[in-house]
Amino acid sequence: MNQERSDTLVLFGATGDLAHKKIFPALYAMVAKGTLTEPVIGVAFDAWDLKQLQARARDGIVKAIGKVDEKIFAKLASLLRYVSGDYRSAATFEKLKSALGTAQHPLHYLAVPPTMFETVIQGLEQSGAAQGARLMVEKPFGHDLQSARWLNRVLHLVFDEQSIFRIDHYLGKEAIQNLLYFRFANSFLEPIWNRNFVESVQITMAEDFGVEGRGRFYDEVGCIRDVIENHLLNILLLLAMEPPVGRSADDLIDEKVQVLRAIRTLTKDDVVRGQFKGYLSEPGVAPYSPVETFAAVRFFVDTWRWQDVPFFIRAGKSMPVHATEVIVRLKRPPLDVFDPIKPGDANYVRFRIDPQVAISIGAQRKAAGDDMIGEQVELTALDDSKGDMPAYERLIGDAMNGNGQLFTRQDASELAWRIVGPVLGDTTPPQRYEPGTWGPTDAMAGFGPPNGWINPAK
Ligand code: BG6
Repeated sequence: MNQERSDTLVLFGATGDLAHKKIFPALYAMVAKGTLTEPVIGVAFDAWDLKQLQARARDGIVKAIGKVDEKIFAKLASLLRYVSGDYRSAATFEKLKSALGTAQHPLHYLAVPPTMFETVIQGLEQSGAAQGARLMVEKPFGHDLQSARWLNRVLHLVFDEQSIFRIDHYLGKEAIQNLLYFRFANSFLEPIWNRNFVESVQITMAEDFGVEGRGRFYDEVGCIRDVIENHLLNILLLLAMEPPVGRSADDLIDEKVQVLRAIRTLTKDDVVRGQFKGYLSEPGVAPYSPVETFAAVRFFVDTWRWQDVPFFIRAGKSMPVHATEVIVRLKRPPLDVFDPIKPGDANYVRFRIDPQVAISIGAQRKAAGDDMIGEQVELTALDDSKGDMPAYERLIGDAMNGNGQLFTRQDASELAWRIVGPVLGDTTPPQRYEPGTWGPTDAMAGFGPPNGWINPAK
């Protein structure tokens, strides 16, 4: 295992969508802060020249941030190289090898469809470009447990686990970092953070848009594979885990893995699926596709801390708002001393993940007036997105530095598939819902945390 910072970034899929939307803007931000000075070699099939790649990078950055600073962009452009060719051809990797020059520890970033992983990894090995290198791979890490195991075997033929960085961009978000920090840098939460005080946990990821031209990809995946098995399950782990015993990447990941091991494997009764009306006419979507664009899932974590506390995750496309939020709802007080407190008005902790970061505590106070009648208020611990580092910027930097804390380890990736396995690939047509609503009303009736869902505000 090498400890040195990667001395070149190799970006497979450099002409693709992800590079355009997320990776080039992240690289630009890194150059602006002086955290990227190493060469960046784009690799892709398109027979482009370097100028075309630079133009594509500029376009992605403009779309992401509005306007480029020419000096910063010129620096980024000067770091860029381009190698075009078929990933199945040895000649492509020979060209890459010569573009790498004297680089000792490149980071190979596979922003390509998973079907290409094996081919690219073989090319890297055969050309010698894998030597001393790190590998970063984009989700999905497989399609189910079996394919995840197979993928891990393929990765391990060439790279050891310490050199593999499986990226789940949600883990790089500022708000997710804050969730972890807030839990373990404060002592007031710990006494109540368990089955004695917590009634339920709910995590909602709502997107107010459909599949946006990604119909072909989405129709092979569906909501559970796309965001629940990875992004949202990761949030659940951060909420449920024990404090790590040290600061190393493995200390943190070990605790997450303990939770994964304790999560009950899902059954069909733990899931409600829905599909927004109009999905079937999206380009790339199969006729009569049974793929879900909405899912609500109930998890249980069989540990002393969490026994019998339901953790609900709900995610969907074409919802009324664009927001990701966690509500940890506490049990209501044992006795009403004043006016009755409705169960749904019990205290809660709210972590707003997207679009703005916020942490708030829901509490009751007396409303002004003669009577001892209460009203709900929120004590906002934080409501500020200033200084947020975009997820891709943080994660590319971490991978170049060999810091695996925010990445998914092999055991975690396989355990997550074990949990969701039995509910994948359901071919029963899901109930339809109107775009702009909170999912399939009939199917959702009676399904959710005790005392109901709290819908995130705009
Ligand atoms: C991706 C999913 O991983 O995450 C998308 O494939 C989803 O379907 C996206 O829209 C959400 O991430 P973010 O950070 O853009 O909210």
